[in-house]
Amino acid sequence: MHSRALAAIAAVAAIGITLGGCSAAGSGSDPNNPNQLEAFTWWASGSEKVGLDALLGVFGSQHPGIEFINASVAGGAGSNAKEALASRLEAGNPPDTFQAHAGAELDGYIEAGQLQDLSSFYQEAGLTDVFPPSLIQALTVDGRIYSVPSNIHRANVVWANTAVLESAGIDPVARPVDLDAWIDDLETLRAAGVESPLALGTEWTQLQLFENCLIADLGPDGYNGLWAGAIAWDGPGVQNAVDHYAQLIEFANTDYSSLDWDAATQLVIDGDAGYNVMGDWAEAAFSQAGLGHGQEYVTFPTPGTVGVFDFLADSFTLPVGAPHEAAAKDWLLTISSAEGQKAFNLAKGSIPARIDAVAADYPSYQQTAIASFAEDKIVSSLAHGAAANIAWSGDIASAVGKFGGDRKPEALINALVQAAHAAAAR
Ligand code: GAL
Repeated sequence: MHSRALAAIAAVAAIGITLGGCSAAGSGSDPNNPNQLEAFTWWASGSEKVGLDALLGVFGSQHPGIEFINASVAGGAGSNAKEALASRLEAGNPPDTFQAHAGAELDGYIEAGQLQDLSSFYQEAGLTDVFPPSLIQALTVDGRIYSVPSNIHRANVVWANTAVLESAGIDPVARPVDLDAWIDDLETLRAAGVESPLALGTEWTQLQLFENCLIADLGPDGYNGLWAGAIAWDGPGVQNAVDHYAQLIEFANTDYSSLDWDAATQLVIDGDAGYNVMGDWAEAAFSQAGLGHGQEYVTFPTPGTVGVFDFLADSFTLPVGAPHEAAAKDWLLTISSAEGQKAFNLAKGSIPARIDAVAADYPSYQQTAIASFAEDKIVSSLAHGAAANIAWSGDIASAVGKFGGDRKPEALINALVQAAHAAAAR
């Protein structure tokens, strides 16, 4: 077996937590015990675990007496979880529900017959009208819906440390107009003695930064065209994006390949880097570190992507053969409920997927995201499962990761073209 898969399986933390006053805490999933729920996520630690715990609090009060079995697998963006999950599904040992992303990421599971159709659940629970039509569309495959979203995250956000910027004479409120202007600011930071102006992490965070360059250089329509086969992967837009990406990573911390997102974002929180491009789960890390939005840190859309919301949504499934189907449906009810979404999203940095949420209930960063989601052009995140299926995004991630080592633009573009061909042939 692949060593990464072994490590991922070893990282599975199956912890039994009893909710709602039931006394016995178990650790194994028992198909004969209906009062259990085994949920598989990658929210295993730090601010992400705080988000999961907030959801559990509501689940415990809405559906008391169900033992929660936390089958989380550590690793940002599901970098270890997806492989571990695939092994479980192939072995016919599914959890009761698992975290996935709305959009193309679900295709493989659906084609393999691993997910239950939740269309009638949506009807019975009255969910069809509580989510925005664009999200329902992203969730619908051949007229059916297979998952329930807990939130909406934005992946084109720059997080900046105000004091670091000010110490180099950069006005934190004046946003660079495009990637070139931002690169000038990165140069200013380095000239002022900030060794790693841009915090970067492991492969999927590189993929996310590259995705931001694609959106900036192709614009939302061009970026969307890449996934529809309408825009060439070796055209001028992608070449510009590769060029910008190559320039940006010259400003990154040298140990980036060994850091997950939380350690990379921490560099900005600690003032060791000026900027980080990260999805807005970073909001939870900044606020839980006690920093104030608009004070110790500022956020803005990645330069060149103003007016675009790079969308993803965490969405929970009901696998075929889930041992505790009724409890899994209870979980789906909680995550889709107004109360569940509010508790979760306040802790997670994301915004509620429900259209009846009230912006004023959320802190300042999320208010900016709620406003942008309502007004901006929406594009689908590549690094977080919305734009391409797992095989295609995996091929692109490997190519971008390899570029970090060899820095050969032509090799990257060739690999992107090959990845698109392979995706079309699958
Ligand atoms: C994303 C996920 C977020 C957050 C992030 C970092 O893929 O949608 O909820 O967990 O990964 O792990």
